[in-house]
Amino acid sequence: MTQATPQPQREARAGRDFLWGTATAAYQIEGAYNADGKGPSIWDTFTHTPGKIERSETGDVACDHYHRWEQDLDLMAEMGLRAYRFSLAWARIIPEGRGTLNGAGLDFYDKLVDGLLARNIVPFITLYHWDLPQALQDKGGWQNRDTALSFVDYADVVTRKLGDRVRNWITLNEPFIVADHGYVTGVHAPGLSDLALFLPVTHHLLLAHGLGLQPIRENVPGSQVGIAFSLAEMQPATDRSEDIEATTIADAYLNEAHLGAVLRGAYPEPIAGLMPEEIVQSGDLAAINGKTDLIGINYYMRLLVRAQTNAPGFTIADWHPGPRTEMGWEVYPEGLGHWVRRIAQEFPDHDIYITENGTAYPDVLDDEHHVNDLQRIAYLRDHTRAALEAMAATNARLKGYFVWSFMDNFEWAVGFRPRFGLVYTDYATQTRYIKESGRWYSRLIEAGAPDDV
Ligand code: GCO
Repeated sequence: MTQATPQPQREARAGRDFLWGTATAAYQIEGAYNADGKGPSIWDTFTHTPGKIERSETGDVACDHYHRWEQDLDLMAEMGLRAYRFSLAWARIIPEGRGTLNGAGLDFYDKLVDGLLARNIVPFITLYHWDLPQALQDKGGWQNRDTALSFVDYADVVTRKLGDRVRNWITLNEPFIVADHGYVTGVHAPGLSDLALFLPVTHHLLLAHGLGLQPIRENVPGSQVGIAFSLAEMQPATDRSEDIEATTIADAYLNEAHLGAVLRGAYPEPIAGLMPEEIVQSGDLAAINGKTDLIGINYYMRLLVRAQTNAPGFTIADWHPGPRTEMGWEVYPEGLGHWVRRIAQEFPDHDIYITENGTAYPDVLDDEHHVNDLQRIAYLRDHTRAALEAMAATNARLKGYFVWSFMDNFEWAVGFRPRFGLVYTDYATQTRYIKESGRWYSRLIEAGAPDDV
């Protein structure tokens, strides 16, 4: 007879009420790009412009979630997901960005919310995940301060409709990526490339967040509001002092500009000194620093930083010591632990959610319709362990974790090639198949501890 040896108490463990979920974004899954009165967004325009997207792919149909949402929610329920983070397509609801409402668009989200609640899945809504109505872009997009005011109207409309059932609201997804990829490198819509646009666009985005807090508070009883930041782990590429200094500058641009303005009411240097005076009006920073309840961490990678003489004074090295995902991103789970600790220590009165974390690998659907994605399981195990250990070590108020993504979907400039899903999307037939990682995640949700599954 063998005697059971007592298992050591593991540190990486979530409680029963931890919200394990998945995340998506409207443009990446919905399709139906011009259905039922929806207006065009900048992503419709961008993907329809030759040369912008690999293989000229578009989100016109994507996962056709707009028509298949019920079966998608059934699949989420089958997987035992406790929460679902999704975004609203602004131009589906207000086709011109401001003004006339499209009832059919709002009804879609109304049904989606009811469908989630009927399946005991907690909805987390992102208001802005990059698909600005084209009509607002025609007036300058995020270069125009007025876009922030249009955002306030939009936030008011949707929280009036959904705020009786949805408590958790995320104003913006990754303002850094919007300003950088959309206006500086031009690899995302609207495809502009001018470093001088970075600061005004950043400020107007954050102003939209700040001013948007008020209608959400007014319309949503017991609201839990926050914002999702793209937080990469920044480290100097070498121990040369200029690279170390450049890392501080890079951290200011990528991370601290947003954390500082939203949570401390001030831009860090060198952002504060460089921000054009006419852009920041009196009262703006106080609005941006309005009370929030949760901080969303979108974490994917470590970035190694080098000094460069040209503005902005740093560059991201294109090599990494560690293994890479299909996106070329370094797998570095310690970085997620770092961010949970840093946020918990600096902002202890906020709840923390990992609002995105996940990976693309070249998945293969075999003849039995299985996807044996063991690499993704290892990635998720290592990252959830890092997050939960950091939670235990710092008493962090980490309340949930959302895998990017629920299903394979339209990965922006690189189209459908990278597959991030726990569920495999067969785009030819729109059939979904739960991957091995999806089954593993269901067991994780039950067990609560990544080392027990
Ligand atoms: C982002 C976006 C997602 C992406 C995901 C994988 O973080 O870039 O929020 O829409 O699809 O991150 O790149």
